[in-house]
Amino acid sequence: MTTTPDSVRPVRRPVSEEASRRANRADWDAYADEYQRTHGDFLGDVGFVWGPEGHREAELQALGDPGRLAGRGVLELGSGAGQCSRWLVAQGATAVGLDLSERQLQHSRRIDEGTGIAVPSVCATATDLPFAPDSFDIVFSSFGALQFVADADLMVAAVARVLRPGGTFAFSITHPIRWSMPDDPGPEGLKIASCYWDRTPYVEEDEDGTPRYVEHHRTLGDWVALLSDAGFCLRALLEPQWPEGHERVWGGWGPLRGRLVPGTAIFVAGLPGTVT
Ligand SMILES: C[S@@+](CC[C@H](N)C(=O)[O-])C[C@H]1O[C@@H](n2cnc3c(N)ncnc32)[C@H](O)[C@@H]1O
Repeated sequence: MTTTPDSVRPVRRPVSEEASRRANRADWDAYADEYQRTHGDFLGDVGFVWGPEGHREAELQALGDPGRLAGRGVLELGSGAGQCSRWLVAQGATAVGLDLSERQLQHSRRIDEGTGIAVPSVCATATDLPFAPDSFDIVFSSFGALQFVADADLMVAAVARVLRPGGTFAFSITHPIRWSMPDDPGPEGLKIASCYWDRTPYVEEDEDGTPRYVEHHRTLGDWVALLSDAGFCLRALLEPQWPEGHERVWGGWGPLRGRLVPGTAIFVAGLPGTVT
């Protein structure tokens, strides 16, 4: 989210899919330059990082053996500047990025030109994927669209539609336990401030009540149910530990709290069937 101006206040209240999308598109368009300036080096132009803890796909292998990615068709949701997909392309996969923010995708094209590794991308929302059924072997997201979407059931069903039988859906999100704690990497962030089971969205709204930024909270059990209802089997739920010696602070993520409670949850799910 952009730095919150004084005229914008954080509240918890219901908000529709359309209002979430409108707010988040404008927010990410406005924030994209600062996001890439602040985090670009950490992410790496051709680098697959799963979250602020800095765990890389080469280490976690949530998408399977990196040696077997060549030839796989991949879709990234909330792809931003496409760093993760670019790494997959470097492993021989064919990747497409999808993001709500045109400005984020402009950064993706800038890095494509600089690295010579291109990630084709489309400006769209994760709830309405503009692809034919059975188009991909893997759909993934690294802190991309999932927690910005109100209609998560539509999104997960859309992913199931575009995946081939046996395909993999993997995504990282803020660990749901963090929702009950203040968004603060310091001592203030070490307390329980709200109810874990309160799904009321987090909204930054301006003086006339217009949402400017929205996040949707779901519990771990909610995500398992969403995946199961769309026909997925949960293969793994990764809760990567804060790495020894990692001191980088990113928003509410930092070493103090990171050493005590997980900050990132990575779900790895699969459709029945066999990838050919
Ligand atoms: C935290 S950034 C992560 C970007 C990238 N995965 C990375 O690791 O840098 C979240 C991204 O999700 C995108 N996003 C938010 N809501 C979305 C939606 N409904 N559909 C697609 N992308 C969305 C934002 O525009 C933003 O680029």
